[in-house]
Amino acid sequence: MNNLDLNDRLKKIATLLNKYLPLLSQSDLDVIQGKRVDHKWTNALLELNSSELTRFDAFREHTLLQDSEWLQLTSDIEELSRFKRSAKNQNEVKAFGNIKKQHELNQLYSFLDHDRGRSIVDFGGGVGNLAYFLEGHLSMDVTVLEKDLALVEKGRSKLKKLNSRVNFTHCHVSNDEAGPNISNSELAIGLHTCGNFATDMFRICIDNRMKKIINFGCCYSKIKDNDYNLSSASDSSLHLNQRALSSATQSFNCVPVEFYEYRKKIMNYKFSFYHWLFKSYDHLGFCSMSNARNSLYKNKFSDYLEICLKKYFPEIATPGKEIVQQFYESEANKNLNDYLSVFYAIQRYLGKLVELYILCDRALFLQEKNYCVEIVEVFDPSISPRSCAIVALKN
Ligand SMILES: C[S@@+](CC[C@H](N)C(=O)[O-])C[C@H]1O[C@@H](n2cnc3c(N)ncnc32)[C@H](O)[C@@H]1O
Repeated sequence: MNNLDLNDRLKKIATLLNKYLPLLSQSDLDVIQGKRVDHKWTNALLELNSSELTRFDAFREHTLLQDSEWLQLTSDIEELSRFKRSAKNQNEVKAFGNIKKQHELNQLYSFLDHDRGRSIVDFGGGVGNLAYFLEGHLSMDVTVLEKDLALVEKGRSKLKKLNSRVNFTHCHVSNDEAGPNISNSELAIGLHTCGNFATDMFRICIDNRMKKIINFGCCYSKIKDNDYNLSSASDSSLHLNQRALSSATQSFNCVPVEFYEYRKKIMNYKFSFYHWLFKSYDHLGFCSMSNARNSLYKNKFSDYLEICLKKYFPEIATPGKEIVQQFYESEANKNLNDYLSVFYAIQRYLGKLVELYILCDRALFLQEKNYCVEIVEVFDPSISPRSCAIVALKN
């Protein structure tokens, strides 16, 4: 399957999404209340032992679920995910950042080789790491647009010391506000533009008749106001709720077993906490909890619950530790967590459909605005999971 048939690809993805949307849209709170989507695949996965489930989920051994419909679906997703790949950069180029960022910059180095020396706008350029790289290695004249003033100030002062000529503009690119004037630039790049930022970037570029647009999306769960179904080829009846949108960024490739185990522990503790609140206080709802502290999950569940209650529900009296631990280990709680782990395991495969749908729809939207568009896999998805760029050239 190649990029000439974006239309067909979108239609095929929409058909699959419509069929499997219940497996992507179920809210965790419904599950906690006991309203579950029962499906032959969740039932089959519940029969696997824990090492088999790890292989299925973390190592993507999808054939451990031996069901012809599943095998057909995973093969369809694989085919629909296949895009033209950009050449692997052969020359290691010095770049700032962690392994992921260095990989991205190195790949962009060869991907943007044809645009050497051009003027470029970097949408959401943060402190200007990409901008500095493009200026230094590809002699580009770069303007960073960034809404976070702290990042703009940090970037300006850092790059000034490095004698850079990168220009920073502090602005919030949005559909509602008049955009910055970018008509002097020849191309625009948005690396990991979250939620609607990608579509807002497109609209500004279209208004400014930008010659070339390169966009990598991310954080699809931040899409607001149903800002998808943009192209005439999209299925306007398709509604992606918050859960389905989140699944688009939760679709990973293989992950190391330590990461998998840690993620599982976080999920078990969080869901058990919400389950406890529901069972004890009829409380249904999430609070935004930070995952960052590794040490939090080294606690026994009873200690974890005590810490979380103090932080998020100080009005609730601390319950006895033994009774909390018994709740955690109860059949009902174990059953809930087992169900959610298989449900999420399936979502991590199917979420890819949501990402593909959004990507193809965005690409076709640009095509309808008189751009020649292709989707190219620029990054290695095992290093940078949001690996595909929409590349649009003005006709
Ligand atoms: C996910 S980060 C990506 C940063 C950088 N491009 C990279 O790949 O490392 C998204 C960046 O875009 C900025 N941003 C998000 N929405 C924006 C908007 N509407 N206008 C301007 N900047 C925005 C954020 O502040 C953040 O710095």
